[in-house]
Amino acid sequence: MRAINEHTITEAAIEQMESTTDPRLKQIMAVLTRHLHDFAREVDLTPDEWLDGIKFLTAVGQKCTAYRQEFILLSDTLGLSSLVNALHDRRASEEATKSSLVGPFYRQDSPVMKLGDNIATKPTNGQEVCLYGQVTNSAGRGVPNATVQVWQPDETGNYDLQKHDPSEMDLRGTFRTDADGRFYLRTITPLGYMIPMDGPVGDMIRAQRRHGYRPAHIHFIIGAPGYREVVTALYLQGDDHIDSDTVFGVTASLVTDVNTYDPASPIPNLPSIKFDFQLPAAAAYGSGRVGADPSQIVKKVAS
Ligand code: BEZ
Ligand code: FE
Repeated sequence: MRAINEHTITEAAIEQMESTTDPRLKQIMAVLTRHLHDFAREVDLTPDEWLDGIKFLTAVGQKCTAYRQEFILLSDTLGLSSLVNALHDRRASEEATKSSLVGPFYRQDSPVMKLGDNIATKPTNGQEVCLYGQVTNSAGRGVPNATVQVWQPDETGNYDLQKHDPSEMDLRGTFRTDADGRFYLRTITPLGYMIPMDGPVGDMIRAQRRHGYRPAHIHFIIGAPGYREVVTALYLQGDDHIDSDTVFGVTASLVTDVNTYDPASPIPNLPSIKFDFQLPAAAAYGSGRVGADPSQIVKKVAS
């Protein structure tokens, strides 16, 4: 009989998991167990601290609904979501637009719109802009008929889900690129905002004396048959929090400007945001969505 102590417990736990038949699950659980035990040893975790951790994770779970995913918010604020994005980008077979967070405000089935349509469907005081660009492959050739899903907060930094009836959609839409891979739409410039702070993740952020803000941004999910989906966001230059995003979604190549004069824009009388997106060829491994529509997660867990 082996003596179980703070040194032998790790191998004992991993040995008991040896019978796991899925090799990837076996690897993930063994490494997770090793790091978790190392963490407890390194900080010399006390029973009270362990219980505080359990209470915190319980509160995170209890905050989740079909409209709110507090666990993903926790992953985002710890930098884990961005790390998973970076690992995903490294696996791309070709040059492509960098990934960024899906965030908690993505909704499947946003309204299908025509090129040139306005995604701001409710009365707004926002600065109207034309958002346009081209979706290309890694060789720079336009990808026709690509799906461009776009969503963003308004000029006060709020998403539709944070206002009025959360089932009513605004500032989101699904477009198809034209024969040259081009897209354009009307919208308003978004404002940066604080991540949802009314839950346990907000308590954590306050305890760490972090500001809790995300810089102004617009989200995209872009896909086409034969290409790996790109999940990303554009960040607006000049925002006070561009260098200190609470969820680490900003990277230099995704920072862009609002142009006040742009004769090349499809709507030249409006300020413009122009960005070209590059899709890599499809790969065998799965989705690049580090995040999801919360209602879909709740559904999956229930079934
Ligand atoms: C967002 O982009 O909307 C977001 C992303 C991560 C956490 C909170 C908000
Ligand atoms: Fe966002």
